[in-house]
Amino acid sequence: AVERTLLVVKPDGVVRRLIGEVVSRVERKGLKIVAMKMMRLTREKAEEFYSVHRDKPFFGELVEFITSGPVVAMVVEGDEAVNVVRLMIGATDGRKAAPGTIRGDFSLDIMKNIVHASDSPESFQREFKVLFSESDVVEW
Ligand code: CMP
Repeated sequence: AVERTLLVVKPDGVVRRLIGEVVSRVERKGLKIVAMKMMRLTREKAEEFYSVHRDKPFFGELVEFITSGPVVAMVVEGDEAVNVVRLMIGATDGRKAAPGTIRGDFSLDIMKNIVHASDSPESFQREFKVLFSESDVVEW
């Protein structure tokens, strides 16, 4: 079934000039980008975005990192998009992510792992509301 998911190029990905690489992989896969914007997250937005990790020992460091520079957030649409994009980004830890995945090819770190993607349709709904409004989505 056609789904939407959220894909975010994190500050390390922007600093390393990997926005185009990430967008290119999404496009070559045949997925459809229906919204995209660059933004600098406020501490409040970052804490809300990563609220499920609020009790983790790395939460403070994660919020510092994600607010350290711009991110590029996009809404990606396609058949089974949530799972397909998860497979394309690879495991959280760049050292363990399979070669051929975005993290496997470009990251050697568990926090600075280039991209974030929604892990379920429910996560997408929640994360989308933090970063976008419905009017940001372009149907095509
Ligand atoms: P992401 O997929 O965006 O979801 C939560 C993020 O927390 C994760 O990618 C990493 O950037 C970060 N993260 C996860 N585990 C750790 C960890 N053990 N130490 C530091 N950062 C982590």
